[in-house]
Amino acid sequence: PTSDARAGEAGAPAVIAHRGASAYAPENTLAAIDKAAQLGLSWVENDVQRTKDGQLVVIHDDSLRRTTNVKDVYPGRAPWKVKDFTAAEIARLDAGSWFSPAYAGTRIPTLERYMRRVEHNHEKLLLELKSPELYPGIEQQTLRLLGKEGWLDRGHLGRLIVQSFSSDSVRTVHDLEPEVTTAYLGTPSVAQLHDYARFSDLINPPYGALSKGYVAAVQTFKGPHGRQLGVFAWTVNDAATAREVAAYGVDGMITNKPDVVRSAVASG
Ligand code: G3P
Ligand code: CA
Repeated sequence: PTSDARAGEAGAPAVIAHRGASAYAPENTLAAIDKAAQLGLSWVENDVQRTKDGQLVVIHDDSLRRTTNVKDVYPGRAPWKVKDFTAAEIARLDAGSWFSPAYAGTRIPTLERYMRRVEHNHEKLLLELKSPELYPGIEQQTLRLLGKEGWLDRGHLGRLIVQSFSSDSVRTVHDLEPEVTTAYLGTPSVAQLHDYARFSDLINPPYGALSKGYVAAVQTFKGPHGRQLGVFAWTVNDAATAREVAAYGVDGMITNKPDVVRSAVASG
């Protein structure tokens, strides 16, 4: 049913485009989610951080250096932390040329703009609060924006998961908006799962940390909404690994090459 944000299609594991279809377009940009939509994918993952003047933006690294031309535009401002630049300054940066000249002029999207494009594309959103310890209150702020954009409406909740490497952050999201599906990024020990299951609906580990036994152990727990705990593994980028990880019984795979993973899983 629509209330279960974890459901894959037709019983196969869900396939989630990591930072968008980031093997084919610059990560965490509107181009990357448009590409995922063109490939017929429904889930996109992103990373959310905050500017100096309090705007939520979509970018993976704490620094602007790797994925923009910030060194050229603002040469004196090393180490170019996202939190030290205003939204207007960030809006001037080219976040596409590092990936390919074909994407020159691509911008870092605000979360608001990004969510509207996800909606326009009829996609589902796995939203990561990245480095939340750098951004006090980012949980409340993100939920407020999600609410304003309609993502917390009953019919919409099945299209949203909020995840973080910070268990404190995942717990805060659950406490503030108990209806939202949540995921913890990491690999808690089986002994710790009882605690994590109080506030997290999914456990999302790197695939190298997985075994069939671990996935089965996770799936014996019930999450905060009374459903079986789910497992989304990351980052699976080739067909052989996708088949291996699917055989562990995971509920989803997060991938830079969603087309490759989807065909690998579909062909069994
Ligand atoms: O969604 C899983 C994955 O995104 C976690 O690692 O560093 O790509 O955010 P990272
Ligand atoms: Ca991420």
